[in-house]
Amino acid sequence: MAERRNKTEEDITAEVLARFSATPDPRLRQIMLSLISHLHAFVKEVQLTEAEWFQAIEILTEAGKMCSDKRQEFILFSDTLGVSMVVDLLDHRKPDGATESTVFGPFHRLGAPEMPAGGNIAHRDHTGTPAVVSGRVLDLDGKPITGAVLDVWQAQTNGLYDSQDKELDALHMRGKFRSDAEGRYLIRTVLPVNYPIPSDGPVGRMLKATGRHPWRPAHVHFVVSAEGYEPVTTHIFDRTDPYLLSDAVFAVKDSLICDFVRHEEADPEARREARRAGVEPPFYTARFDFRLTPSATAQATVMDAQQRLAALGARA
Ligand code: BEZ
Ligand code: FE
Repeated sequence: MAERRNKTEEDITAEVLARFSATPDPRLRQIMLSLISHLHAFVKEVQLTEAEWFQAIEILTEAGKMCSDKRQEFILFSDTLGVSMVVDLLDHRKPDGATESTVFGPFHRLGAPEMPAGGNIAHRDHTGTPAVVSGRVLDLDGKPITGAVLDVWQAQTNGLYDSQDKELDALHMRGKFRSDAEGRYLIRTVLPVNYPIPSDGPVGRMLKATGRHPWRPAHVHFVVSAEGYEPVTTHIFDRTDPYLLSDAVFAVKDSLICDFVRHEEADPEARREARRAGVEPPFYTARFDFRLTPSATAQATVMDAQQRLAALGARA
C-alpha cells in the first residue's frame, strides 16, 4: 500500500496535471495542462489568500450576473486585460500590406440596415459635426474588390452606443455598405468622439483600483468582408485624439490611424463627395482604403462577427 503523507503544493499541482493528462482531445489536453500549470504557478507566486480567492469568485459572479444582450462584462475584462488583442494578433496574422485587425468589442449588433453609397448612419445625431468617410476596398495587388460588405458601427456624439442609450431603442449609427465597381465606398456619419467604456461594474472597479482610465480614442468600427477573402474586423482612429497612446483596450495600431480633415469651405473634391453624402460645411472627411487577404482555405478559421454575436445570444 502506498504510504500516505501530507501533500505539498507541488504534489497537488502534479496530481491535478496527472488527472487531466488522459484528456482524449489533444488540443483540449494541451490547453487544460497549460492552464493548470499557469494558474497554480500564479496562485503560488502571489501567495493568494483565501479572502483574495473569494473576492475573485465574487468578481466573476458579479460579472456573469451583469451580462445580457446589451452588456458583456467578460469581453470588457478580456479587452482591458489586453487578452483580446493578443488573441487577435495570434489568430489573424496578416501579410504586409493587408489591413490590420483590432478588437471587436461588445457593441456590434446584428441587423444593421443596408445603405446606399453616401447613406447617413447618424440620422438621429443632431449635435455631431457631419463627417464623410470614404475609400476603396482592394486586394493585396491593389485591385478593386466589388461588392464587399462594410458593416459599420460607431458611438453617438453623446459617447453612447444605441444599445446603451436609454432614450433610444432602435438601431442607430449602424449600416451595411457595399463597395462599387471600382471598390469605392462612401459613408455619411458624424465626427467620432472618444468615450469611456462601461465602468459601473467590476471592470470599472478594476480600472479605478489600478489607476487606469476607461477612455477609448475616437474611432469608427468596421467588419469588411467579401467572397473569397478573409473578413477583417477593425477600426479607424482619429489622429488628433488624446487617448491614442492610452486606449483602455490596447486596440490602436499605427496603420489604422486616419486624418479627419475639417472643411470650413469645401474645396472642389471634398465638395463632390460631401454633396453625394448631402452635407454642407463645416464637415470632416476621412479616407481609408481596406486591403483584404485572400481566404487561405475554403474553411477559414476566422469566426465572423455574426457567428460570434450569435454565440453570445445577441439580439437582432
Ligand atoms: C468599442 O470600441 O466599442 C469597445 C471595445 C472594447 C471594449 C469596450 C468598447
Ligand atoms: Fe467603439
